[in-house]
Amino acid sequence: MFSKRTRLYTSFNIINLFQILKSFFFKKKNFESQIQNYLKVKNLKLTSLGRTALYDIIKLIIKDKNKKKFFIAPYTIPAVIHAVKYAGGEIKFIDINKETGLIDEDKLESEIDDNSAGVIITHLYSNSEDIKKFITRFQNKINIIEDAAINFGSKINDKYLGTLADYGFFSFNIVKNLNTLNGGAIYIKNNETYNKYKLERKIKKFPIKITFNLLITVLILKIMFNNFSYQFFHFILKIIYEKRIDYILKKIYPILYHTYEKNLPVIYQYDFNWLMNDVGIYNLKQIEINYRERLEKAKIYNDLIDDRVAFKMECFKNENALLEYTIILKNVSNKIAHSKLMERGYDIRHTWYINNTKEKNNLDPTNFKDTYFIEEYIFCLPVHKNISSEDIKKISAIINTFI
Ligand SMILES: Cc1ncc(COP(=O)(O)O)c(C=O)c1O
Repeated sequence: MFSKRTRLYTSFNIINLFQILKSFFFKKKNFESQIQNYLKVKNLKLTSLGRTALYDIIKLIIKDKNKKKFFIAPYTIPAVIHAVKYAGGEIKFIDINKETGLIDEDKLESEIDDNSAGVIITHLYSNSEDIKKFITRFQNKINIIEDAAINFGSKINDKYLGTLADYGFFSFNIVKNLNTLNGGAIYIKNNETYNKYKLERKIKKFPIKITFNLLITVLILKIMFNNFSYQFFHFILKIIYEKRIDYILKKIYPILYHTYEKNLPVIYQYDFNWLMNDVGIYNLKQIEINYRERLEKAKIYNDLIDDRVAFKMECFKNENALLEYTIILKNVSNKIAHSKLMERGYDIRHTWYINNTKEKNNLDPTNFKDTYFIEEYIFCLPVHKNISSEDIKKISAIINTFI
């Protein structure tokens, strides 16, 4: 009876409210140095958002190389594409390789020319071997930018994702494992470039109004989607899906309702929200323990889900933060899987990222077969604190009926 569950979750807690007050009164700014120590790098600055960090990286590369062409696999959040454009970059899409989760290496190799400025790799579900292989192959050929937005704290042999290549960035937004409501970080390997960046950076104070708005969103998430009230809100959510109530769906799946504003959104000009200094420090201390919990849960899915219904991602060696556990369905689409699970009381994510080539009508779909495939069949399973191993057993049993 109390078995209904939703993917909607934020790690923001009551204690974080006190930490916001503490930061308001004491105005400390030591979260940045703590992240630097954690990631074992010096060249890192906090930013207003993950996309702001990418925007800054693209500007730096364009200025340094006087080249504008950036490669990326189209299966990502549109905000990333927008950030590149705002910074003056030009996007060249290359298909994802569904086996590795990275940009297709051979296609990338054949496209690199004198006008190429950089390649953005989105860390989704790749394993350490494939990430290492990719970076080794391209590190002296082109600037590599790691999008580690959803993978703060993941590492390969003690070196953290986001700091493996020339540039990297992270996101600390409301649903991330290191949550400061908004926020991000930029990593720049080259000392000279980093020092110049630090000196020339122009930023404004983060407005308090945005913090209030975000706190209201957190409050709604906490009130409606805890395991107790969700027993009721599940039925409301069902109606929202059935009647396609855009106003709410926009909040649950903002990625499906993105818009490209012509002018640079003001948030790109803001500094990190220093009201979140103490929240960040507190959450940083929870990273390892929370990761271990998610890892155990992901492994249960991995053990229980039948190979005949899905490909299961083997990224259990710290190289993925496992915000959710990724599988690729073999027999039904993610949308169908979502509605079948919804009928049984489980609201699982039906859309992770989108195929951004669809926005451009001059791109031949046959060049993006894996992206189209991934968009339809990838399925992300929840491992957050409101999901127990019992829930995982039930969800896996339902998925195993998708033969
Ligand atoms: C893969 C990926 N890249 C970039 C971003 C952008 O991060 P932010 O929302 O902090 O700008 C996100 C945000 O969810 C993301 O998932």
